[in-house]
Amino acid sequence: MLLHSYKLNDTLTLSNRVVMAPMTRCFADSKLVPTQAMATYYAKRASAGLIITEATIIRADGQGYPNCPGIFNKEQIKGWEAVTKAVHNQGGKIFCQLWHTGRVAHSHYTGKAPIAPSAVALDDRVPRTDSLRYEMPQALSEVDILGLINDYILAAKNALDAGFDGVEIHGANGYLIDQFLHQQTNLRNDDWGGTPEKRARFVLEIISEITQAINSERVGLRLSPAAYFNLEPIEGDEKTFEYLLGQLESFNLAYVHVGMFDDSTVFDYLDGRVSEFIRRHYSGKVIGCGGYTQQTAEQELKNNSVDLVAFGRPFISNPNLVEKFNSLEPINDYNPEQLGELV
Ligand SMILES: Cc1cc2nc3c(=O)[nH]c(=O)nc-3n(C[C@H](O)[C@H](O)[C@H](O)COP(=O)(O)O)c2cc1C
Repeated sequence: MLLHSYKLNDTLTLSNRVVMAPMTRCFADSKLVPTQAMATYYAKRASAGLIITEATIIRADGQGYPNCPGIFNKEQIKGWEAVTKAVHNQGGKIFCQLWHTGRVAHSHYTGKAPIAPSAVALDDRVPRTDSLRYEMPQALSEVDILGLINDYILAAKNALDAGFDGVEIHGANGYLIDQFLHQQTNLRNDDWGGTPEKRARFVLEIISEITQAINSERVGLRLSPAAYFNLEPIEGDEKTFEYLLGQLESFNLAYVHVGMFDDSTVFDYLDGRVSEFIRRHYSGKVIGCGGYTQQTAEQELKNNSVDLVAFGRPFISNPNLVEKFNSLEPINDYNPEQLGELV
């Protein structure tokens, strides 16, 4: 099933059910413009049914890593145009992952204090720096929140202008949207926090606005109900995700994507694995991700546990992953040292 053509919806038919997972690589230029080398890197992986780009910031204050690309100005749109053309020339499809890091941003990159739902700092070291620690974020005002929603919409429109087949809203991995969804980072008592409905409001408003601006069949969402990265789970968090997944039913999205490093992990409070939790509460298309192999992917598709499977690290070490799956060739192991080069 994994390698057969797949009708995702009325707008998109994919050449197979293999998705390239979004992976930050930090190879954009100093103005956060995608480079020709990035176009070549993605084009080499165009045999995936769908590529999801590395997380791409919707505005300058969303930056938490060096040289991660943006999609908020003309130069960046032009840079992405070369990427989408290169992928399309090879017969592939590509979505842009829209990102704001919230409290995981740093003044080292942005020149100002990070912003977040509430003033709760991440107690950790900033990766890819010598000794920086995360800073106390400034709690967003209501006006700031509305401005951010608007910037997500602009970024989605920019992505379509750049030739993307769609966008994935990055609601996972402890970044801005996920900070609204979890109780540890959302201490608000206004219309944007305090109850599952209010914690889910930020992402639901973004989805509602984006799906009015562009075809909803071109919009996906990535979620991490397990709070496994940049966050600590708190009892009751799952209620927000149950509510959110129920609400998503009405938007006819392309898919909901599991944000996990290892989807075999069982979480008591989710009553199972993350993909199982999402499947239980959402009847649309689901992309599984996190530690899958060709064999486990085939098995999960056969069991109807997920509809597509995303592979991350295997795509770094095997640009021709789909061809290898097809010919049952052994795949190269991933080695973190490979992150130093874009090949
Ligand atoms: C180097 C690297 C960068 C990543 N960057 C992102 C990212 O930008 N956005 C995102 O949602 N997930 C990111 N992830 C998580 C992957 O999308 C995926 O969930 C994870 O690698 C598990 O899948 P795998 O076992 O097939 O590698 C990253 C993972 C790696 C290894």
